[in-house]
Amino acid sequence: MITLDVNGKTLTTDAADDTPLLWVLRDHLNLTGTKFGCGMAQCGACTVHIDGQATRSCVLPVSAVAGKKITTIESVASESVGKAVQEAWVAENVPQCGYCQSGQIMSATALLAQNKAPTDADIDAAMTGNICRCGTYVRIRAAIHRAAAALA
Ligand code: FES
Ligand code: FES
Repeated sequence: MITLDVNGKTLTTDAADDTPLLWVLRDHLNLTGTKFGCGMAQCGACTVHIDGQATRSCVLPVSAVAGKKITTIESVASESVGKAVQEAWVAENVPQCGYCQSGQIMSATALLAQNKAPTDADIDAAMTGNICRCGTYVRIRAAIHRAAAALA
């Protein structure tokens, strides 16, 4: 058994050590807000926070995160930065199909936790690994600026 700290709760899983964290979140813990896109760390749909860092969960063995603080989209709004990001996302009507959006919000929240006033270049650099096939990038950038202003 592997013990995990997920969204402030201590949970256990009998998944094999090399099972990707994404599979454990979705299939073992029923936290389906985190999405499977490519499975190769190329799209960002599966982004979660590991000790506050935006991390692709599709290529991360679950054994590597035992004892670390895992945050998923289901609880990102429990802290002020994530709450501001989610509110800005709604205000800017960011999502189109929505598939990439939990990953986008996790990356944006990690950015704003470290950089309270990101420039467009900072945003583009931080968000470059999160692909949106619907092309919501302009609204994502606007929402990050809106969240930064709300937190200032
Ligand atoms: S599913 Fe993990 S980066 Fe695409
Ligand atoms: S909103 Fe459809 S892929 Fe991003």
